[in-house]
Amino acid sequence: FSLPESVNEPINPYAPGTRERALLKAELERQYHLELDIPLIIGGQEVRTGKTQKAVCPHDHGHVLARFHEAGEAEVRMAIDAAMAAKKAWEATPWEDRAAIFHKMGSLISSKYRYILNAATMLNQSKSAFQAEIDSTCETADFLRFNAGFMEQIYRQQPISDPHVWNRVHYRALEGFVFAVTPFNFTAIAANLPTAPAIMGNTVVWKPASTSILSNYYLMQLYKEAGLPDGVINFVPGRGSMIGKVALEDRNFAGLHFTGSTGVFNSMWKTISGNLERYRSYPRIVGETGGKDYVFMHQSGDVAQTAAAIVRAGFEYQGQKCSACSRVYAPASRWPELKERLLGLLAEIRMGDVRDFRNYFNAVIDEAAFDNTMKYIELARNAKDAEILAGGKGDKSKGWFIEPTLILTTNPKFVSMEEEIFAPVVTIFVYDDAQLDETLKILDETSPYALTGAIFARDRYVINHLTEALANTAGNFYINDKPTGAVVGHQPFGGSRASGTNDKAGSFLNLIRWTSPRTIKESF
Ligand code: ALA
Repeated sequence: FSLPESVNEPINPYAPGTRERALLKAELERQYHLELDIPLIIGGQEVRTGKTQKAVCPHDHGHVLARFHEAGEAEVRMAIDAAMAAKKAWEATPWEDRAAIFHKMGSLISSKYRYILNAATMLNQSKSAFQAEIDSTCETADFLRFNAGFMEQIYRQQPISDPHVWNRVHYRALEGFVFAVTPFNFTAIAANLPTAPAIMGNTVVWKPASTSILSNYYLMQLYKEAGLPDGVINFVPGRGSMIGKVALEDRNFAGLHFTGSTGVFNSMWKTISGNLERYRSYPRIVGETGGKDYVFMHQSGDVAQTAAAIVRAGFEYQGQKCSACSRVYAPASRWPELKERLLGLLAEIRMGDVRDFRNYFNAVIDEAAFDNTMKYIELARNAKDAEILAGGKGDKSKGWFIEPTLILTTNPKFVSMEEEIFAPVVTIFVYDDAQLDETLKILDETSPYALTGAIFARDRYVINHLTEALANTAGNFYINDKPTGAVVGHQPFGGSRASGTNDKAGSFLNLIRWTSPRTIKESF
């Protein structure tokens, strides 16, 4: 037999007047007024610590959507124990059965959970209906289904045998538990980080981001409904530094699956190094961290295509994607046309509440993100070598709203050409066409990160030249396309340098990290 085919979940546009739109609107209304009390989930049991935090709408921060309980040290230890207790039976579960549970999760997302996850992601993470659909529905279902297929692909990789010797590789799970730490910006990443190790037979302690707690809690309900046994994934919200310390100091810690900032990842890696003697094995460390992703336009590039890519990659989901375009290199010969296009597109962007589907653009995630972004904008406003070309205003009275902002600089090393802001701010440097190679060199030198990048050019020799010159600057490199929106099964995703360990989410390359294979030779 073979598994059901992994196909990408189709995107629903929620067109006006459709039944799907009405269902999503009804679910938004239901969740908006629910004020859930969200517990920890450890070994399948709801645990309430009484120490709670509010979950709000970023675009309407006075509105409380839920309260969630925070773990203390005792609950993190309980979660580790629950993961260890569930491990033997889960690892022994035939992989076809594990795959069946994951395909059921995919199916549930296609139907009932599509509305639940989209509404939660819209309200609590301030995503538009389209951005929620491509993330919490499509990419989440894709990860779950395709990972089942990648698991099969790995298990079928077997060595050569002969009539007298049977060699086989048993792709066992890691000896211990996996610690998954997930970011607010993609519900799909919050789903993938615990479930990718889980499908390979591991059990997991999951620390979700506090600012995406609603969708992440519904993911736990989805897993249960699909038949994932209790204790395989344990949901432990709370203070990252404390939870991390307890998890990383535990003898049974066997792997870290992380997406978040480079700083936090570095500090976790150092904690792991300091605890190596405690562990049974060298832990697997897989992380996807920051980015300073670029669009580079050559004079042969298409202006309309480049401008659309900058606006979509720079401003969809308020620029809060690790893959978001945050710097642009534009050729002086084409800059007037490109500028006109960009300003035209920006003028069409509507900003506001997610429940008005005409709003393309919503709020940034929280006050810290708002303040940090405004600091960078003010810096550009006051700089001699930069100016605000568009946007630049923020208003945090009702929601954390910052206009889509373009900064123009004459300095290719200007602070916002190098530092990640993780916000709707794109900085543009206009280069002299005659200085192509010098500009490519500067781009490479000012790339401590290497996550995504895009080039726009028509000439094939130029495309080849740019691709070669920028080889080390992006783990996901796009030619004549925007640098966001990698699709599971199509573009395995991840970067190098300070962007992470480049273990390519959405491919067998990631799943193989969650195995500790045993080679068996049997002689006849
Ligand atoms: N995988 C996400 C993207 O490609 C981050 O945009």
